[in-house]
Amino acid sequence: MANIILLGPPGAGKGTQARLLVEQRGMVQLSTGDMLRDAKASGSAMGRRVAEVMDRGQLVTDEIVIGLIEEKLSAGAGAGFIFDGFPRTLAQADALARLLERIGQRLSAVIEMRVDDAALLARITGRFTCGNCGEVYHDVTRPTAVPGKCDVCGATDLRRRADDTEESLKQRLMEYYKKTSPLIGYYYATGDLFSVDGLGAVEAVAAEISGVLDGEGD
Ligand code: AP5
Repeated sequence: MANIILLGPPGAGKGTQARLLVEQRGMVQLSTGDMLRDAKASGSAMGRRVAEVMDRGQLVTDEIVIGLIEEKLSAGAGAGFIFDGFPRTLAQADALARLLERIGQRLSAVIEMRVDDAALLARITGRFTCGNCGEVYHDVTRPTAVPGKCDVCGATDLRRRADDTEESLKQRLMEYYKKTSPLIGYYYATGDLFSVDGLGAVEAVAAEISGVLDGEGD
């Protein structure tokens, strides 16, 4: 079993690669972004509290996201957890270590996905997803085969995220460099860090990640 973190700036391809790992290896994707968007859509008190923060491109409090992860960890790991967009602060990284220890698990690898800012802007502003199954598309690099219809489930509910604007991306990148990128040093120090070139084609990035997993997974 392998438990991995996908670490990278907004648009690095974390969600795209996580979905492939779920499909190909039966791993369990834990995306705090997806959990928060579900809470937002449900109209719950917590969802209302986080909606504005997310749309502005700022980080939600550690307390909320750690609580969300804690709840999901107890549901079972399948062939291992993929932490997608979590942890994003040093406090979250420490909390994750404690939570994994509590359930008798450990981290296998932290995979940093490197992509430059210019590519991120093009990726984020062209992204859309299927509101039914969550498949991720792009206007230029991965359009649907039939315009307006999801290739995977056939739904026509294709959506763009409220925070996928140039302005919000600037804020999201600032948050990433200030609060999340220090985790690269943290996981380098723990000996868990691996770096992949996130600029390659989806399949090339997937092959690099598989190489890490096959070398490190247990
Ligand atoms: P979250 O949903 O986690 O967003 P993010 O980290 O900004 O990452 P994205 O989902 O935007 O990008 P991605 O790396 O998954 O890229 P994707 O695969 O979609 O978080 C959203 C918000 O929630 C945060 O801003 C914050 O407010 C809050 N939040 C979440 N977690 C939190 C936490 N732990 N603590 C506090 N707050 C938290 O790809 C992007 C596009 O590029 C797609 O169109 C895709 O088709 C395309 N693409 C992907 N790979 C390639 C490739 N190799 N080549 C060409 N195109 C590609």
